[in-house]
Amino acid sequence: MDKLDFVTEELEKLKDAGLLINIRTIEGPQGAWITVDGKKVLNLCSNNYLGFANDPVLKSVAQKAIETYGVGPAAVRTIAGTTTLHKELERKLALFKGVESAITFQSGFCANLAVIPAIAGEGDIVFSDELNHASIIDGCRLSKAKVVRYRHCNLQDLQAKISDEKNTRRKLVITDGVFSMEGDIAPLPEIVEIANKYGAVIMVDDAHGEGVLGRGGRGIVDHFNLHGKVDIEVGTMSKAFGVVGGYIAGSKRITDYLAQKGRSFLFSSAVTAADVAACIAAVDTLSASDALVKRLWENTKFFQGRMKQIGFNLGNTKTPITPVMIGDAKIAKDFSQRLFEEGIFAQAIGYPTVPIGKARIRVMLSAAHSKDDFAWATECFAKIGKFLGIL
Ligand SMILES: Cc1ncc(COP(=O)(O)O)c(C=O)c1O
Repeated sequence: MDKLDFVTEELEKLKDAGLLINIRTIEGPQGAWITVDGKKVLNLCSNNYLGFANDPVLKSVAQKAIETYGVGPAAVRTIAGTTTLHKELERKLALFKGVESAITFQSGFCANLAVIPAIAGEGDIVFSDELNHASIIDGCRLSKAKVVRYRHCNLQDLQAKISDEKNTRRKLVITDGVFSMEGDIAPLPEIVEIANKYGAVIMVDDAHGEGVLGRGGRGIVDHFNLHGKVDIEVGTMSKAFGVVGGYIAGSKRITDYLAQKGRSFLFSSAVTAADVAACIAAVDTLSASDALVKRLWENTKFFQGRMKQIGFNLGNTKTPITPVMIGDAKIAKDFSQRLFEEGIFAQAIGYPTVPIGKARIRVMLSAAHSKDDFAWATECFAKIGKFLGIL
């Protein structure tokens, strides 16, 4: 008996349940078509909503930033200082989001791990949508606050649970803006109203909303015209912005506080100058034109319209995140494998990312795709769907 036998057993269990994740190898840049494990395939997996991940302007400014600033920050910002580029990105992000201030982190995950424990601690309560992202769940765990999960987007449940909790030092309500596995949108105006009634701090994770929702992709707060009414917005630069990094947008008071109290800001180095320069170019491009966001929505309408016509269940999506509901994890894996054989890269998502029995193929749409790509892809989905008895 080896002390690490349990690792082998756990991996076997995942395999038997059809839940073992197969990480594919990509050769070359992200885009509508990519080379995966040596095969050219249509990419329906990435969060590269606007095609920025291989944008010539972003690449060029990243190369220039390496010449000017080198490749690494060499220490955390609070100890070794921060570059003018990091400050420029924060200023431009604040302008883009229509807030007073922004502070950047290494990723969206790190931003959530920083902000939640800084706002809530022992003796406080966090009200969190049951389908919130894993980084929110982990941020809540780190905070040591009591966590009350409310049913997904269920305002009655939130209202009942928040009104139940009296004599608490601080309350925090957290929701994803767009739910990453469902593609539905949080009812933010009503959440804001309930939170305000009970004096709760309001936080929204806009990872899948920015670049997608609102005027020119300014995100969920802009989509609902809630400017000034949400205390904390979490963002990521790894999805629509096409690069890597995370941020918090809000009042200067909040960002000043996080620079002193956000542990991933204080104890981990920042993203590199090349990343930051590329992020600035993405924000500049989006600030100048909404053409890419419009194209993303045209593509979304086209693909989802065809899939519904064919008879697929796309859940309750309202955004380019397109869950093709299958149910059984093994069938979903089989579906994904058959798509790959046809030349389509679209991953099956199963437990623990989504509940057991709700496995799906998660299709991510991008402005980089063409209608021809989708016309062909939907035919492949139909063929495999019939073969596997989904349709
Ligand atoms: C809602 C949400 N928040 C945060 C993250 C983490 O973002 P990042 O990849 O920048 O760490 C994700 C990524 O999947 C997400 O979907």
